[in-house]
Amino acid sequence: MSPSPKPAERTLHLAESNSTVLVFADADAASKAAADRIVRIIAQAVAARGKAILGLATGATPEKVYDDLAARVRDGGLSFRDVTTYNLDEYYPIQPLDALSYRTYMHRHLFSRVDLAPNRAHILDGTVPETFASEHAAQFDRWIDDDGGLDLQLLGIGRNGHIGFNEPLDLTVEAFAALPTRLVDLHPITKVDAVREFGSVDAVIPRALTMGVRQILGARTILMLATGPKKAAIVAEALKGPITAAVPASLLRTVADKVVWLLDEPAAAELG
Ligand code: F6R
Repeated sequence: MSPSPKPAERTLHLAESNSTVLVFADADAASKAAADRIVRIIAQAVAARGKAILGLATGATPEKVYDDLAARVRDGGLSFRDVTTYNLDEYYPIQPLDALSYRTYMHRHLFSRVDLAPNRAHILDGTVPETFASEHAAQFDRWIDDDGGLDLQLLGIGRNGHIGFNEPLDLTVEAFAALPTRLVDLHPITKVDAVREFGSVDAVIPRALTMGVRQILGARTILMLATGPKKAAIVAEALKGPITAAVPASLLRTVADKVVWLLDEPAAAELG
């Protein structure tokens, strides 16, 4: 039996967007709601197709979600036996065992704590030669396609609206929506926010491999988790401003019927 999701404090109906926006009292409650939904999606996908394909995020936001999922596995209420994962991104270049790699992050927060087979935990490889990076990225997209696409993509949002490391670009919405997995330059705001891990802006690895927008928007369910006051302005812009490649998360409104925004009150503060 999968647990039923905790009721949201409130559900917002925004005139500008038909997205589902659920607001919780705090980050713990929003994270618990995300974990509840992930557990249900795993159960439904495994029942329907014998496997669940999850797209996962790193960063500060999903840490509590992974704690919750790990606790359920430890208590016997959840298994990753039939799960395959694809992470959104990885710095480039970086060694997998580097303390700052997203491979290390995922090992620490989830992979070492659940019964996921190591060869089903896919993270873009920060050690591929640069001449091979685009082929590696294309192969990553093919693996996801061959797995039948993502049942779920878990997302956080950058303060510049990025999803994965799909940074704001001067492109049409159509061109942006079609972007494949690829090597990218990090945006100045992303580098400032990475000082938390790297210690200084100059120490931040300036490039990354990121899952493309095409693959993210193609997921059958998208959970966007945003918590804390620093996300309030960009959450409002993404949900109420124009749909534009200058605010990557605004493109989630082009597939609004399969997107659920899980916010805490501070992140929802500018939605009205
Ligand atoms: C992480 C990722 C990023 C983060 C975003 C928010 O894999 O792709 O888009 O989700 O930068 O980061 P936090 O959660 O640290 O605020």
